Amino acid sequence: MNELDSLVASARELFAQAGTPVDLENAKAQFLGKAGKMTALMKGMAQLTVEEKKTRGAAINVAKQAIEAALNDRRQALLDAQLQQQLQAERLDVTLPGRQRGQGGLHPVSLTLERIEGIFASMGFEVAEGPEIESDWFNFTALNTPEDHPARSMHDTFYVEGGTPQAPNLLRTHTSPMQVRHAVQHVKRYRHQLDAGQGMPEIRVIAPGRTYRVDSDATHSPMFHQCEGLWIGENVSFKDLKVVFTDFCKTFFESDDLVLRFRPSFFPFTEPSAEVDIQFQSGPLAGKWLEVAGSGQVHPNVVRNMGLDPERFIGFAFGMGPDRLTMLRYGVNDLRLFFDGDIRFLSQFNK
Ligand code: DAH
Repeated sequence: MNELDSLVASARELFAQAGTPVDLENAKAQFLGKAGKMTALMKGMAQLTVEEKKTRGAAINVAKQAIEAALNDRRQALLDAQLQQQLQAERLDVTLPGRQRGQGGLHPVSLTLERIEGIFASMGFEVAEGPEIESDWFNFTALNTPEDHPARSMHDTFYVEGGTPQAPNLLRTHTSPMQVRHAVQHVKRYRHQLDAGQGMPEIRVIAPGRTYRVDSDATHSPMFHQCEGLWIGENVSFKDLKVVFTDFCKTFFESDDLVLRFRPSFFPFTEPSAEVDIQFQSGPLAGKWLEVAGSGQVHPNVVRNMGLDPERFIGFAFGMGPDRLTMLRYGVNDLRLFFDGDIRFLSQFNK
């Protein structure tokens, strides 16, 4: 093997030993760099004759090309190896099951509101919704609540800036304003019949929704839900209230094993007024009286604010707490759980 052949062979061997691109570039410098062996051979040609230069030059060139080819092969081989390694490291197992998108469900209080609406709809009640930013008139005045009533104070009510006597200026503290809002619309629709001395279809409506009070502890939240009920006609009595509400409770709790108590109370917009308590006769809550609603016969002043003659139209109203009903139905003892948004809690209601 002549000198050039063994140079090429040793270059090939060194390149093959280079395990990284840096090693390879260092190995290259030994042959093709400024201080490399090939460069030295070229310089050595200076003393040769023209004829010698031709043959020697050609031979050196062949060797140089062989070394360059070996270098390029090794470069490519290292790149390929690097790519393979990367592919291996970032390998995807396409047979793994995908991450599941969780399925949403209704909030437990929404489930309760749907139940309430369904039950009252089956008894011929409409469902109405009203604004959460309410006027002083609908929230208080129209409901026979005097100027100096404590509920109107800053401590109890969230007032909104910029209110005028006519404009909405507070977050409604109950759903009762919907009594007058809805009745006024209803009466407007049948005004011509009433004016002609005829009757009108009875008002039978429930109004569920969010309500707000400055209040916060284990059983109170500044935002909570209420559902109002109103039944006005020419011949509606407290007995009807009892029948309807008893029916509702038994259907809602899916139990005949409960009794109701109408406990005398006071609300400005009803006279007489009663708190409705229920008592389960069996099960974990048996024996305790549980308050579930306020109720009463609609006050003549409120009937008048609806645009109706209280001498002719009479009825009853009730307001219940769907949050409380949800707690009783599912055995939840802290109201705040409903508003924490913890999926572990909420998902239990959508099995
Ligand atoms: N609005 C009352 C409250 O928030 C509840 C209530 C009591 C509603 C008696 C009524 C009613 O319709 O007749 O405490």
